Amino acid sequence: MKNVLSWILITFLTVSLLNNCFSNSIQKEIRKKSSFLAELRKLYSSGDPSKWPKPILDPQAVPYFSEIGHLPEIQFPEDNPYSEDKALLGKTLFYDPRLSQSNQIACASCHDPELGWCDNRTFSFGHDRQLGTRNAMSILNVGYARSLFWDGRVASLEEQSEMPIRDEKEMNGHIDLAAGKIAKIKGYEILFEKAFGDKMVSKDRISKAIAAFERTIKNGTSKFDQFIDGKADVYSDDELMGLHLFRTKAQCMNCHSSGYFSNNQFENVGTSLLGSKEEDLGRYSVTKNPEDAGKFRVPGLREVARTGPWMHNGSMTTLTEVISFYSRGNPEHSQKRSTVHQGIALTSEKSGFVRLLDLTDEEITQLEAFLRTLSTKPERVLLPALPR
Ligand code: HEC
Ligand code: HEC
Repeated sequence: MKNVLSWILITFLTVSLLNNCFSNSIQKEIRKKSSFLAELRKLYSSGDPSKWPKPILDPQAVPYFSEIGHLPEIQFPEDNPYSEDKALLGKTLFYDPRLSQSNQIACASCHDPELGWCDNRTFSFGHDRQLGTRNAMSILNVGYARSLFWDGRVASLEEQSEMPIRDEKEMNGHIDLAAGKIAKIKGYEILFEKAFGDKMVSKDRISKAIAAFERTIKNGTSKFDQFIDGKADVYSDDELMGLHLFRTKAQCMNCHSSGYFSNNQFENVGTSLLGSKEEDLGRYSVTKNPEDAGKFRVPGLREVARTGPWMHNGSMTTLTEVISFYSRGNPEHSQKRSTVHQGIALTSEKSGFVRLLDLTDEEITQLEAFLRTLSTKPERVLLPALPR
């Protein structure tokens, strides 16, 4: 009996000793983690990006890289400087469906400020409710894009604005006809006069005014901007870790860098579906360089939580899906990756930056939490009065 009792005592003592050690080591772990987080929080919210931990970048990404941070001031081109009156004229035209052949579709139909300046559809519908073949891009912060559209086929906003007017699936009009219609509307005279000095309406002036307005569409201060400016407690631990992962283990900054969160390059992340019915040759259609098959412009990520569905074809419906896709390094197993276009064989070669990241579920959640901090409170945009 005595023997049994002493055995019970010994077992009890050993178990509680082990238990104590174990919880000590867990506590040590927790303490280590929270001091790591406290240190990260201090560095990232120091107001001085030079104190931030070094980003993980591929050497090939370095020439196009600049650190993420605030958006710089917008640059207006010399031949189309900003004025309040010009931007107001541009805004009015942007909302005016009379630029379209049917008098039904305005730029704002597909680029709606209440929907993150896009339309939150997989593909937009335009004239006669015809569907386009690409996801409408948000035009928020478009003044920072160095080329426009998913394939970068246009270099300036001035040049861009007449394209949807002409596109038979979008507004199905003609910029000259549209200019003619606008010129007949008495109420526009004063707006053109204030913006350009006299009441003459021309397609060149229409393009310039719309472009000037578009350059004013930039987002305000996001939670991210507040955090890096020193408001250390606006970020949760998950948001903080997400920021750190974005710059390090997840390697997003090989492409999504600068205050605009894009390096303005064209990259192939393996979304072109070459060889299928939905194939999109991307940048190749512009350059005819086979190396560009399947490349798309790296989109900026500010306000990205509001601009879904995502990618050039709107094929991803949640941000978790987008991040998991990167985490797997998009193996493209199930996709055909080649096609023949006008007699030329093209293969989709995924960028070397897209690789297996093996993010844990927790890390995926943290990255998503961070992406959501790039949003601002939706602003109410006052609709302009359409001139009669
Ligand atoms: C029927 C829907 C529709 C209408 C109407 C429309 N757009 Fe778009 N917009 C799109 C789609 C879709 C894209 C992406 C097309 C592509 O990449 O090929 C786009 C892209 C753009 C871009 C490029 C953004 C970037 O980051 O590169 C700008 C700028 C733009 N539109 C401005 C306008 C203006 C100005 C008007 C009116 C004159 C207009 N859009 C009318 C659907 C539309
Ligand atoms: C190789 C360059 C590259 C890397 C690395 C990269 N991206 Fe992208 N990203 C792109 C390109 C290009 C697209 C557009 C692809 C398309 O439209 O098919 C894109 C699209 C996106 C979109 C959708 C944006 C929209 O408006 O539809 C999100 C969100 C995104 N990336 C987040 C991330 C995150 C998070 C990481 C890191 C885990 C990352 N990206 C890493 C190049 C890259």
